[in-house]
Amino acid sequence: MNKEIHQRSQRKNEHVKHAMHQESTEVVSDFDLITLLHHSLPGLNVDEVDLSTTMAGFDVPVPLYINAMTGGSEWTKSINEKLASVAAAADIPMAVGSMHAAIRHAELAGTYRVVREANPDGLLFANVGADVSLEGAQQAVEIIRADALQIHLNAPQELIMPEGDRDFKSWRQNIERILKHVDVPVIVKEVGFGMSRASLQTLKDLGVRHVDISGKGGTNFARIENARRKSQDMAYLGDWGISTVRALLESQSLQSDMSVMASGGILTPLDAMKCLALGARSVGMSRTLLKSVEEEGIEATIEHVKDFHDQMKRIAVMINARTVGDVRKSPIVLDPELLSWMTQRQLV
Ligand code: FNR
Repeated sequence: MNKEIHQRSQRKNEHVKHAMHQESTEVVSDFDLITLLHHSLPGLNVDEVDLSTTMAGFDVPVPLYINAMTGGSEWTKSINEKLASVAAAADIPMAVGSMHAAIRHAELAGTYRVVREANPDGLLFANVGADVSLEGAQQAVEIIRADALQIHLNAPQELIMPEGDRDFKSWRQNIERILKHVDVPVIVKEVGFGMSRASLQTLKDLGVRHVDISGKGGTNFARIENARRKSQDMAYLGDWGISTVRALLESQSLQSDMSVMASGGILTPLDAMKCLALGARSVGMSRTLLKSVEEEGIEATIEHVKDFHDQMKRIAVMINARTVGDVRKSPIVLDPELLSWMTQRQLV
């Protein structure tokens, strides 16, 4: 194996290893600063609840997805295969991790293609960084016969890595070009740093219609990149970014123009319901599902996802909501800290 391929595979393995062992540093999650309003007289039964939704233009029965993580090494190939089996059995979409390794080195394409083999009819999303060429993006879609393409934005991660990118001026143009020429829907996503209203407005002006605000509060790439090296150069940036809840608040005035997905630190069905109440159309999870397939196996993870969805439905009854549309309309109460954010950010 040549040295560059070896280094890439190594990096993929390190990301997975560090993510799996990352403990939350949040004392209070922003999800705790939101209350869904209890309803004493629900007028429906659990079987009537239908949380089907649309995601990047596709109708999906369950408002959950496995978000982008990995590929590019033998270990991560096996993880992709397991996650794709979970996605197939639980009938949820799945994204693979960044595919630059496969674009550069054809011999690594199989570590991603395995998801299509394990889930031939599922909704699968390719994933590239915003520095990718149009040809690279098209290749990524072809490798897994993707139904949609995620473009990830990870500027802080690059800037923290000593070997990372320092110039981001091509990103907007690349995104515009990909939107014009790639023939599947494009989702622009963060990687756990969240998006502000200004970032979302910039994406909207570029023509982006689907975003995943992937906020702070879960997997933390500032901490992962610092942990991967001995000299923790920029360890003080561990709290950088906008939380998932705050990014959803930032997105609210743009939700009629863009479909917004939420990810970043979603641990419980209640967190997911709060995302829907804040306007997300669907909710993504990465790290918890990675840990689950690796530590508990495929069958347990399928059960976990099904149970998660079932519990979301039961919570829907507690707020008297039958559909995702009803959840979006249901009342929420924000703690003063979030209200202060909204006031300072002029979101109210
Ligand atoms: C990620 N994430 C990610 N995102 C992306 O767009 N491309 C990628 O290659 C990766 N790689 C990756 C590796 C690992 C091990 C993890 C855990 C995550 C980010 C991911 O899609 C998501 O945005 C964040 O992880 C936030 O969600 P969780 O993990 O808090 O549920």
